[in-house]
Formats: sequence, C-alpha cells, structure tokens
Amino acid sequence: ARLVVLVSGSGTNLQALIDAAADPGYGAEIVAVGADRDGIAGIERAEKAGIPVFVQRIKDHADRAAWDAALTAAVAAHAPDLVVTAGFMKILGPAFVGAFAGRTVNTHPALLPAFPGAHGVPDALAYGVKVTGCTVHLVDGGVDTGPIIAQGVVEVEDADHADGGEALHERIKTVERKLLVEVVGRLAREGHRIEDRKVWIPA
Ligand code: GRF
Repeated sequence: ARLVVLVSGSGTNLQALIDAAADPGYGAEIVAVGADRDGIAGIERAEKAGIPVFVQRIKDHADRAAWDAALTAAVAAHAPDLVVTAGFMKILGPAFVGAFAGRTVNTHPALLPAFPGAHGVPDALAYGVKVTGCTVHLVDGGVDTGPIIAQGVVEVEDADHADGGEALHERIKTVERKLLVEVVGRLAREGHRIEDRKVWIPA
C-alpha cells in the first residue's frame, strides 16, 4: 500500500513507520511526507530515508480553504492508499476529509473521546486521571472524533505531575509508535471497512 505521512514536529511516529516499512513484508511504502512547516526533525527523517517531502504552510495561502485545497492536491499527487497524520498539528478541512476520509489514520496521545485536541497529555494530567494512553483512529470532519481502531493504556505516576506531562508523553509515545505501526501494517495488508463507527480489519 502507498502511504503518505503528515507531520509537524519531531516525527518519531514517522520514524517508526519508516523503520517498519523497510521490511518488504510490512506491506506499506511511504511514498511521501508532508509537513505544515519547515525546519522540523520530521522532514530531516524523511530526507535521510530518501522519501520525497512537501511543505504546505497556511501562511503561503490566501486563507484556510486555499491551504486545505493545496494540501489535498499535494497528497493526492502521490496517489496514496492510506494517509497517516502523526503529530500533524493542523485540523484537516472539508476538501481533505472529502478526498481521504475513511483512509486517513490519526494517532492521538489520549484515550479518546477523553481529552481531544492539541493538549491531550497535560489535560489528562490536570484532570487527575489514573490511566491515560493513546488512540489510533480514522479521521472524520471533527477534531479527534473519527472511528477508533486501537487504543493503548499508560498508567499515570505521581512524578508525572512534576514535569508538566513531559515524561508521561514520552511513555505514551512509546506505546503509540508500536500501536500505529501495527495498525497501519494491518490496514495496508488487509484493507478495512467501517460499519457505524466500528472499523473491521480482516483477521
Ligand atoms: C504524538 O504523541 C502525537 O500523538 C501527538 O504529537 C506527538 C507527535 O510526536 N499529536 P512525533 O512528532 O511523532 O514525535
């Protein structure tokens, strides 16, 4: 399967997918990496792996709709079977979701539907949860609201309250990378179908 990965930051989820895709049995090839900004480690990781990179910055476009259309065209140019947003910090607009709904996979560092949005880790910590974790889900028109495919649980430790969630987020990312690699591999090899919010992947 042809994969396009969208990033905004360090790209450790991307790196996990790059490493997994090196195995021909994984069933997915990362054909391009897209970013919403320059100068991030995620872009360097792609370049080091010889993967084509494109950057679509909102400020280069007249408005959000124009950016959404440009991003959609940039992704479509690579004819992906699956799109993965891994730490992509922009909300995808109607043009993108219309083009790639049902085959865009997102990973979020909280147990959705709890703590959606850009601060899931500190929000969970501030709420005082005892367990949190990560969610791999399909992207729909909302923010972190699409059908859930897999979740991983991470215990919150007392010490986590001392560093604003830094250590907790790293522990979540360890689980998240494993879960994302497993889910993307299965979707790439088996395909999937969605029935009223349930995502079915053959055995
Ligand atoms: C991940 O935890 C992702 O769920 C969140 O931001 C983090 C991105 O990490 N949205 P990386 O860029 O993949 O290292």
